[in-house]
Amino acid sequence: MERRTIGATALDVGAIGLGCMPMSWAYSRSEQRGDRSLRTVHAALDAGVNLLDTADMYGPFTNELLVGRALKERRSEAFVSTKCGLLVGDQHVVANGRPGYVRRACDASLRRLQTDVIDLYQLHRADPEVPVEETWGAMAELVSAGKVRALGLCAVGARAVRRGADLHEGTIRQLDRVQQVFPVAAVEAELSVWSREALARLLPWCAARGVGFLAAMPLGSGYLTGTLTPGGGFEPDDPRARHPRFTAEMMAANQPIVAGLRRVAARHGADVTPAQVALAWVLGLGRHVVPVPGAKRERWVAENARAAALRLTAEDLTEIAALPAPRGSWD
Ligand SMILES: NC(=O)c1ccc[n+]([C@@H]2O[C@H](COP(=O)([O-])OP(=O)(O)OC[C@H]3O[C@@H](n4cnc5c(N)ncnc54)[C@H](OP(=O)(O)O)[C@@H]3O)[C@@H](O)[C@H]2O)c1
Repeated sequence: MERRTIGATALDVGAIGLGCMPMSWAYSRSEQRGDRSLRTVHAALDAGVNLLDTADMYGPFTNELLVGRALKERRSEAFVSTKCGLLVGDQHVVANGRPGYVRRACDASLRRLQTDVIDLYQLHRADPEVPVEETWGAMAELVSAGKVRALGLCAVGARAVRRGADLHEGTIRQLDRVQQVFPVAAVEAELSVWSREALARLLPWCAARGVGFLAAMPLGSGYLTGTLTPGGGFEPDDPRARHPRFTAEMMAANQPIVAGLRRVAARHGADVTPAQVALAWVLGLGRHVVPVPGAKRERWVAENARAAALRLTAEDLTEIAALPAPRGSWD
């Protein structure tokens, strides 16, 4: 696996990471099985996919517990990224950026992860009630205390942004502010063939400052893999069941995007998949970019890891650039 160095603190990671979220949160919950997921994490480490991206809110808490079971045996092989700042209730999620809360959340994450240090500690969402500098200052103290190696910030999600506003304007403002307090090592935000908004300002902001970029949802929540059937349906508690881009109509309307990825894949060999093309496209956006595809199956992890060796040609990139814009609102 190719290695990439991200952030001023030169974090060294495999070029493809593993998003652990689907193992315990969000997608197809009836398929979430602890032992299989644990095997998937081990398979990732075996393949050099060492960046494990989790968060205390995934589960909540159970995803960190799962990752902790793998870390207990193979801590030195893994790079663990987790997040704080969001609290999950029965029907809602709220931000909490109070310094005391951040300190307690970090200690709890360390316990669940069965480690004494977190490689990348990310602020999941800034708390509108707390100046972000205060939250970030508390996180910086965790670095001084040796509990955390580097700090990251997650972009504000599409749903939280006012219609018509620049998607990443608020995130960039937050980044400029926290950067005055303590260096940002990485930013995590959605970036994929069908969600390219980060290319406009956020990715260049990171590139100009030597800040790493973790590309979340690089497979379009599974859609870009071509394995989801329009009208196939989702489990009731799967967010895609209520998502405007995942209605049967919009999934059918967006098939030309998948077809384009298939055409590119076919040029590279019969065993190359649309998922691998989608990941190779993200990898090609810069040496500071690391996609973190989510998966709960070993098979997907092995397939996604092989995308690190796929080099897209100028013809491929032209074809992908010309794919139609996705139909269906993202919020
Ligand atoms: N910071 C943030 O605010 C934020 C927000 C969203 C996500 N994230 C992070 O980003 C990670 C990735 O995002 P995501 O998981 O939402 O979406 P994603 O990576 O775009 O897609 C994940 C889905 O694709 C499926 N999949 C993976 N590889 C596949 C393959 N080769 N062929 C067919 N299907 C495949 C998985 O299926 P199975 O589930 O069946 O394995 C999973 O349902 C998350 O896990 C999380 O760590 C961060």
